[in-house]
Amino acid sequence: MDERSVVTAYRRLSSTYDRFFGPVFEQGRQVAVHKMNCQAGDRVLEVGVGTGLSLEHYPDGVEVVGIDVSPDMLEHARQRVNGNADRITLQVMDGQATEYPDASFDKVVAMYVVSVAPDPKKLVEEMKRVCKPGGEIFIVNHFSQKGPMAKLERLASPLSKLVGFRPSFPIDDFLAMADLDVVESVPVNAFGYWTFIHARNR
Ligand SMILES: C[S@@+](CC[C@H](N)C(=O)[O-])C[C@H]1O[C@@H](n2cnc3c(N)ncnc32)[C@H](O)[C@@H]1O
Repeated sequence: MDERSVVTAYRRLSSTYDRFFGPVFEQGRQVAVHKMNCQAGDRVLEVGVGTGLSLEHYPDGVEVVGIDVSPDMLEHARQRVNGNADRITLQVMDGQATEYPDASFDKVVAMYVVSVAPDPKKLVEEMKRVCKPGGEIFIVNHFSQKGPMAKLERLASPLSKLVGFRPSFPIDDFLAMADLDVVESVPVNAFGYWTFIHARNR
């Protein structure tokens, strides 16, 4: 997956995304924003905000900056900002190399993005850089566990450009690569097939 493939895949998916991936991923979004425990005055960066399905879950008084490489996905997200333009900002931007100074945000979250980003290590490094020291990082993603499903996911790997994500992503590989101080990790969504991770930024 390179950036162009991501933009192309999500151009194709943008008009049907909410119908298919809205309900399937919804519990994970709700768990993530609930566990983020956002307080009035918090400044949050949501990387890969997509069509903005999470935006309604943030409480009033929280400033949310949502970025995404796909202009088509963001076009849908803009319709969700409605009367909240004073506290929700959306921008086309690569989460792997943002324009924000170091330590700009209290909380940084990426839901269902690390399997999609061309370089997940760069993405997590950038999340850490723009998050304040002692701030919090949150990730929701499907990671491959051991067993027969992992084998199937490995077989599906050549389809990643078509489906718009990496089907095989072993959790051990991710944790070794991300080097996060994990506070909590819980299964979410159907069959606990996805994982919510909460980490403290150093
Ligand atoms: C599976 S969708 C998830 C969207 C949304 N977070 C949700 O909960 O439905 C993945 C999103 O990540 C975006 N994305 C992929 N790589 C990215 C990157 N490097 N920087 C910013 N957004 C990225 C895609 O364009 C897409 O909108």
